[in-house]
Amino acid sequence: MPTILKIQGGKPLKGTIEISGAKNSALPLMVACLLTDKPFILSNVPNLADIRTITQVLETLGVIAHEDGNTRTLNASNIISTTAPYELVKTMRASVLVLGPLLARFGHAKVSLPGGCALGARAIDVHLEGLRAMGVTCDLEEGYVIAKAPKDGLKGAHFTMRVVSVGATENLMLAASIAKGETVLQNAAREPEIIDLANCLNAMGADVQGAGTDTITIQGVDSLNGTQYKVMPDRLETGSYAMASLITGGDLTLTNTSLKYLPMVRETLEKAGAVFEELDNGFRVAQKGPIIGVDVMTEPYPGFATDLQAPFMALMSVCEGASMITETIFENRFMHVPELARMGANIQVHGASAMIRGVKNLSGAPVMATDIRAGIGMVVAALAAKGETTISRLYHLDRGYETLEAKLQACGAVVERHKAEI
Ligand code: EPU
Repeated sequence: MPTILKIQGGKPLKGTIEISGAKNSALPLMVACLLTDKPFILSNVPNLADIRTITQVLETLGVIAHEDGNTRTLNASNIISTTAPYELVKTMRASVLVLGPLLARFGHAKVSLPGGCALGARAIDVHLEGLRAMGVTCDLEEGYVIAKAPKDGLKGAHFTMRVVSVGATENLMLAASIAKGETVLQNAAREPEIIDLANCLNAMGADVQGAGTDTITIQGVDSLNGTQYKVMPDRLETGSYAMASLITGGDLTLTNTSLKYLPMVRETLEKAGAVFEELDNGFRVAQKGPIIGVDVMTEPYPGFATDLQAPFMALMSVCEGASMITETIFENRFMHVPELARMGANIQVHGASAMIRGVKNLSGAPVMATDIRAGIGMVVAALAAKGETTISRLYHLDRGYETLEAKLQACGAVVERHKAEI
C-alpha cells in the first residue's frame, strides 16, 4: 500500500538525531562478502530498502544472510549463481558492484545493464573499461553483460578513469583485491565511502593503499578472510538534517557522525550563516541570523556532494538574496525544481545551473519525491513551509533515510505517514 508523508511546517527542530550507518558505504561493503568463503559481519547497517535489495541480489547468488538489528552476517561459502538479474539491478544500480568480486573469485559473471534512471543515462562503461584492462572479456547479450576473466584469473592493471566514478572505483578495488599482481587506479574517486571499503578490505587481508587520494594501489592477494566491520556514518543523512535544522531556525545535535566527512558542505553552510559546534561524537548546528544566499557547484569529493544539492536548494529557496547552484555530476538532477516551485520557490533553470531567488516563505503543497535526495529536499522545504505539505512516492525516501519521521518527530517536527488515498 503506497504511503504519503504529511508535514505541518514552521516548527524549529530542536533535539538530538542519531545518524545511521551510510547506505552508500554499506552497499559495497556487503558486496565485499563475495570475496571470501568465511563469515563476514557488518555492524551499523541501516535498515533501508536499498539494503534489502542488495541482500536479495546476494541471496540470489547463494549468499546466506542473517539480520540482527543493524548487524548483518553474510556467508558466501556456497555461491550457486553468478547472475545479477534485471528485476533487481533495475531497481538499484549499485547491484552492478557484484561484477568485480564475482569475476575475481569465480572467473565469470552475468550482470544486467541497469538502464537509465531518474538522474540520467548513468552508464557503467568505466566499470567495464577497467575490468577489460584486467583481462576481462565483456559481451552484451539480451541486456546482460556476460563477463569472463582470463583462464588464470584477473590480472592487475594500471588504469586511469576517464570520469571520476564512485561505483567504478569500488568495483575495481573489489576485483583487484584478489587479482594477480598490482593494480593502480588513477583519477579514482576520493569519497569517504571509498576509504571505508579500503579499510574493510584491508581488515580482510587485502593490501589497498592510497584510498582517499586519486591514486589507489592494490597488491592482489591469493584469498581474503572474513571480518567484522562497522559501517561509517551516513554523511548525506547528516548533511540533510543539518540543513533541516537551519531552514527551521532550529538547534540540532547530530550524533554518531562527524563534520570531517562534510568539509565543503560545512564551509558552504557557514557562509549561509550556520554555526557549528563540534562535539565528541558529532556536532551541533544552528542558524545565526538570516539564511544568506551562497553559490554552489556540485563536484566529486571533497567538493559539494550532488546528493545534498536538493536539500541545499530547498534551504536557498528562502535565503536573503540569491543563489546559483550548478550540477556537474548528473545531467538530470533538477527534478525537484518544479516541486519546490509548487511550494512557492522562485527558481529558474538554465542548462546545468539553477538561479534561486530567495522568497520570504514557502507554503505547503502536495509534492512528489522524484528520487531519494529530491525527496529529502521536499522534506527540508516542508519543515519550514507555512501549512501542510503532502509528499508522495515515499518509496524513494525509504531507500535512503532510516526511520525518517521518528527522527524528525523526536525533535518537534509535525510529520506523519499515512496510507495514500488512491
Ligand atoms: N559515469 C559514467 N560511466 C560510468 C560510471 C559513471 O559515465 O561507468 C558517470 C555517471 O553517469 C555520473 C558520474 O559518472 O554522471 C558519476 O557517477 P558515479 O559512478 O560516481 O556514481 P555512482 O557510483 O553510480 C554513487 C552514489 C550516488 C551518488 C554518486 C555521486 C552509491 C550507491 N551511489 O553513484 O548516490 O550520487 O555516487 O557521488 O554509492 C544516492 O545515494 O542518492 C545516490 C544517487
